[in-house]
Amino acid sequence: MANWLQLRWGVSLTVVWGIVFILSAAACQSAPDLDAELQTVIQAQALTRLDPGPVQAPALVALGQALYFDKILSGNRDIACATCHHPQEHSGDDLPVSIGTGGVGLGQTRQIGYGRSFIPRNAPELFNRGAAEWHTMFWDSRVMLGADGRFQTPAGDKLPATITTLLAAQAMFPVTSADEMRGAAGDLDVFGQPNELALIAADDLPAIWQALLNRLLAIPGYQALFAAAYPDVPLPELEFAHAANAIAAFEIEAYTFYHTPWYQYLEGDLAALPDEAKAGALLFFGEAGCSGCHSGPLFTDQLHHNLAVPQVGPGKGDEAPLDFGRFRETGDLADKFAFRTPPLHNVAISGPWLHNGAFSTLEAVIEHHLDPEKSLREYDTAVHLPPDLRGTFQNDPALLDELLQTVDPQLAPTRNLSSREVQQLIAFLEALTDPGMAEKVAYLVPTAVPSGLSVDESSH
Ligand code: HEC
Ligand code: HEC
Repeated sequence: MANWLQLRWGVSLTVVWGIVFILSAAACQSAPDLDAELQTVIQAQALTRLDPGPVQAPALVALGQALYFDKILSGNRDIACATCHHPQEHSGDDLPVSIGTGGVGLGQTRQIGYGRSFIPRNAPELFNRGAAEWHTMFWDSRVMLGADGRFQTPAGDKLPATITTLLAAQAMFPVTSADEMRGAAGDLDVFGQPNELALIAADDLPAIWQALLNRLLAIPGYQALFAAAYPDVPLPELEFAHAANAIAAFEIEAYTFYHTPWYQYLEGDLAALPDEAKAGALLFFGEAGCSGCHSGPLFTDQLHHNLAVPQVGPGKGDEAPLDFGRFRETGDLADKFAFRTPPLHNVAISGPWLHNGAFSTLEAVIEHHLDPEKSLREYDTAVHLPPDLRGTFQNDPALLDELLQTVDPQLAPTRNLSSREVQQLIAFLEALTDPGMAEKVAYLVPTAVPSGLSVDESSH
């Protein structure tokens, strides 16, 4: 009896262990190989985690939050930074190209105002702009930190020395743009009062900034917030640059989101990434050639490349309806139609994508990178654009040829990728999303701002 029992348990244990072995082998199929390969790539390419930069002073952040959501910074008192870079829209506006002053609503439901034009470009996400690596701002890097440590901006030597960071230097400009925030001469604000900001000459930036500061300091709530943020600066010595520094502090505090599965994987948690994303990472840093341009901890070389992106939207400057991109800043033909490589943290939640929002799916963005010719020639506005922008696609054959002839040679893939591999790349991009963003949104939107003007909130 004892022998029989022993025998029976022995047999069944063997069977059980056999089944466990087979099941686990099936479940982890190829996973150890993927990890070994990926670890080799991580070491060989010295891939590192993002350093988000220093924590911001709370009083500065509090002032910056009020300013960021307050429509007082716009000539017509109808649009704030948050309108186009809203927490509920993942720090963008969920539109292909933005809608400035005169518009109504938030996100996809935002409507353009009568007689106004669209903003030339897509409002980028604002994630992790506190990282020390940043030395460019805007799709054409028209705000830059030079090698000499000085800010290069459209304001030239008019940029106040009080500006502390590149992000703060950027914040000086949306308020000066007539289409975005300042308004057009003759505009009346939301109370029917004349818009004094729109009457100032467009190139007199110091006068625009001073007029904005005058508005702010007339409000007791702002006097208190400025005094708390800048205890050593008497109110009469404040400049608009102090406001810009505070806005930058808030942007960093609000939108630092880098705790992604990819970050966890780099920290040693091999289970943080699904196999699909691991395979995608191998392609991204390998055969698909993505990391040639989307390099470093921010996933951008901060250089400019022509990807032959369909030209949609109103266009920019004298070249409208075209947008020459970086060429507008340098005059160098090699920069024609080139735009700064965007960073990729949280990219899966920050569509529509590219400098003009030309694509509404990540799949189409990747397919475009892999075969710009096919993608450009077969571009379907009905798939990717809302009805009011479809007519803006510039499909003149000579233009399409020019875009394709000058496409960045680095884009050439070493081989065709299968649709399975495109899905793997998407899985990797999705692993660059910090799940914490969704929970923090509610804390970022204030219930009221010192001017008493309405605060944008989305209905969805
Ligand atoms: C009308 C919509 C709109 C408003 C209002 C607006 N922005 Fe933007 N923002 C944009 C667009 C569009 C771009 C890209 C423009 C370009 O690259 O030419 C941009 C670019 C930026 C960038 C550059 C990010 C990068 O890495 O290139 C930052 C930072 C930014 N905005 C912050 C702000 C702040 C701060 C305010 C308020 C003072 C503001 N924006 C107001 C639409 C808007
Ligand atoms: C030659 C440099 C280069 C290479 C290689 C490259 N990209 Fe890009 N990528 C860019 C530039 C530049 C843009 C923006 C172009 C524009 O808007 O006109 C961009 C845009 C993107 C965007 C949209 C981001 C946003 O916020 O709009 C994604 C996603 C992306 N690339 C992923 C990839 C993937 C995946 C690969 C590899 C298959 C890859 N890229 C290879 C330069 C490159």
